[in-house]
Amino acid sequence: MKNDELATSKDINLAAVDLDYEGFRKLASNPHLSVHERIGFPVEYREKFEEAIFKDICEKLPSLTGTNKVIVDIGPGCANLPRMLIELCERNGHRLILVDSEEMLDQLPNASHVSKVSGFFPNNIEAVRSAANGPIDAILSYSVLQYLFVEANPFHVVDVVVDLLAEGGEILFGDIPNASKRRRFFLSEAGIRFHREFTGRDDLPPLPSTSGGQGLIDDAVLLGLISRVHSLGCDAYLVPQPSSLPMANRRDDLLVRKP
Ligand SMILES: C[S@@+](CC[C@H](N)C(=O)[O-])C[C@H]1O[C@@H](n2cnc3c(N)ncnc32)[C@H](O)[C@@H]1O
Repeated sequence: MKNDELATSKDINLAAVDLDYEGFRKLASNPHLSVHERIGFPVEYREKFEEAIFKDICEKLPSLTGTNKVIVDIGPGCANLPRMLIELCERNGHRLILVDSEEMLDQLPNASHVSKVSGFFPNNIEAVRSAANGPIDAILSYSVLQYLFVEANPFHVVDVVVDLLAEGGEILFGDIPNASKRRRFFLSEAGIRFHREFTGRDDLPPLPSTSGGQGLIDDAVLLGLISRVHSLGCDAYLVPQPSSLPMANRRDDLLVRKP
């Protein structure tokens, strides 16, 4: 599908579209789509799960439930997670910096505690730094690392975000599709059962070929990023999502803590 069709078509098979930053800009401008579809998710993967996802994010980033912190969200999109974050930050006296395309950010409410930095991250890192105007307590980037992996250098992304962190600061790269985890799951009895219930068929789940990993994050990438975080003097952990979340069986969360 061409980028222009992403901006205008009423009928988009999101599972079949290879999204990138420009593609998201187009989706964001498509008046026929729900807020979930504008960030690339079929409605059923998000609509009923946003409260549970937000609760999980708050448990993984304890700064959010503190007061008077500086918070950054890289790739907030335009659905309900950033709206919940804007409200929580207002209640808790945090300053919040949102980093995404202008098309996404324009759809989110403006407020005195919110700054919007538009453009492709990390090319706009200096604008983020100046909006923060000091060290950052928590950085959230939920369901975004897979795009940064393809379009930016993920090691550079880790370098620059760790550099922004305050002492005791934390980062959550959440909802990362991990091709190795997906493979492990679909080779298991539980994965085969899941596939059969989901498709209504009696066959085995298709497994990616060994050459099919191009552009996909896998264990090797995540372990490499963890190693990089360690070399920058921070702790890093690969943590699971609650099993009630729709993609918990094939996604991981990467948590970074600065001592
Ligand atoms: C799948 S959506 C996730 C949105 C939101 N975090 C959520 O989970 O509801 C990915 C978002 O990342 C943004 N994005 C992708 N690459 C980006 C980049 N290099 N710089 C800034 N934003 C980016 C897209 O515009 C999109 O809003």
